[in-house]
Amino acid sequence: MSSHLVALAALAEVVAWAAWHKSLSLDLAMPLALTLVSRFFAYFALQYGALKFYHVVVYPNYVSPLRHLPGPKDNFPFMGQGKKLLTASSPIEDYVKWGNTWPDAPFIRHLTLGNMEVLLVNTPEAHREVLQTHCYSFRKPDILYRLVGEIIGRGLLFTEGEEHKKQRRILAGLFSASSIKRMLPIFHEKARSLTKFLEQGLDENRRVTFEAVDAFSKMTIDVVGVTVLGVELGNLSASDKKMDFLKCYHRLFNQSPLGALIGFVNIYVPVRKWLPVEANLGFIRANAELRRMVSMCVRERVQEIEEKQRRQQADGKAKEGSVDGDGGRDLLTMMVEERRNFKKEDELTEEDMVNHLLTFLAAGHETTASAMTWAAYILATKPGVQDKIRAEISAVLATSANAEPDLAEIERLHYLNNFCREVLRLFSPGMAPPPFPTAPPLI
Ligand code: HEM
Repeated sequence: MSSHLVALAALAEVVAWAAWHKSLSLDLAMPLALTLVSRFFAYFALQYGALKFYHVVVYPNYVSPLRHLPGPKDNFPFMGQGKKLLTASSPIEDYVKWGNTWPDAPFIRHLTLGNMEVLLVNTPEAHREVLQTHCYSFRKPDILYRLVGEIIGRGLLFTEGEEHKKQRRILAGLFSASSIKRMLPIFHEKARSLTKFLEQGLDENRRVTFEAVDAFSKMTIDVVGVTVLGVELGNLSASDKKMDFLKCYHRLFNQSPLGALIGFVNIYVPVRKWLPVEANLGFIRANAELRRMVSMCVRERVQEIEEKQRRQQADGKAKEGSVDGDGGRDLLTMMVEERRNFKKEDELTEEDMVNHLLTFLAAGHETTASAMTWAAYILATKPGVQDKIRAEISAVLATSANAEPDLAEIERLHYLNNFCREVLRLFSPGMAPPPFPTAPPLI
């Protein structure tokens, strides 16, 4: 935005200069157009340089109201702490160090690339302020949408303000305790598959060695697929029958180096539509197929549920919103069932539903895979923790009427619940580019 203003200012100055020149009737050595263009670029470069100097050197060091907040001051010229953060052994290494140095500071300030100011939210109260009380005073970074928005569209992750509030209201029911309860049979079934997979690898000492990152990534896309769409993703095939959903998904999120480079350039310059190289064309094909497969699931489910609802109505057994049925419920089924109860302005189009479903798949996949991997790491390296969890589960199951615990019984597993919370606290999978404030800082 500032570059546009500087360009406008430079243009105005060139016009003023030309007018002044004309009024003096001076002879120009160069052709007029060339003189004007070179003057424009000279004015632009001078003013843009001055503006950048102010933003990069003067503002963060001498003007910013945040400059007195606690935080590291051993900055690298023009890069702040950016160089250290990029070369650290893990993305959170420095954040943990700063959190330990200033444990009571709600916000820790540091400079990053281009001396941009970043605040690390450090205490539970500060988190509440940023993520709940004032969440609509922050805007998600555009770069995130340009990076994955072309795959998952404008679902909850990328909407802001009133639109975001509306989407949350529409989708809130899907994540209520009663909805989770209805998904439980799906979780049980997938947990049985994981147990079987681990049992198959047991050695004579009942130990198993496996590539956790890979195994959990494969397993969670499987679970998330059934939970979100209600189908095995491997059974959905592309129109040419050569690719299935998982292959297309893998193609989009694990690109070749050239594909990744094109994706990166596309953030700044929209090259996606124009580059006729296979790395790009393959991405476009896989993306279109993915959307086509999810759209097909939506259409089929709508048809299926409307048909069931019609039958139940005819039998005089219609229920509010949902249809009778056996087993668990996936998010797509619940979304379609609940459409009946939506107000006119909340109605979801097929595209809205596809965007939401792709968002759930992407948001729920690697996050849970990462959490599971860290949980397995702790269980493998701390057998004492493993023993306590096993004893707790055995005690609950011993008094249960079910072969597998129901939701109330799972909630009684306090040690296991706290273990999961600690894994998420210490090895948070939710790293994302920081949001930008839309109003002056409240601190
Ligand atoms: C361990 C697992 C997970 C972690 C650590 C995690 C973490 C996060 C984080 C940090 C955010 C951003 C919150 C914000 O900016 O306010 C988020 C948003 C979101 N997550 Fe998850 N997530 C997990 C699993 C899931 C699953 C399984 C689903 C869906 C099936 C899901 C769907 C979403 C959606 C839709 C949003 C956007 C919410 C909104 O903007 O209102 N996540 N998640």
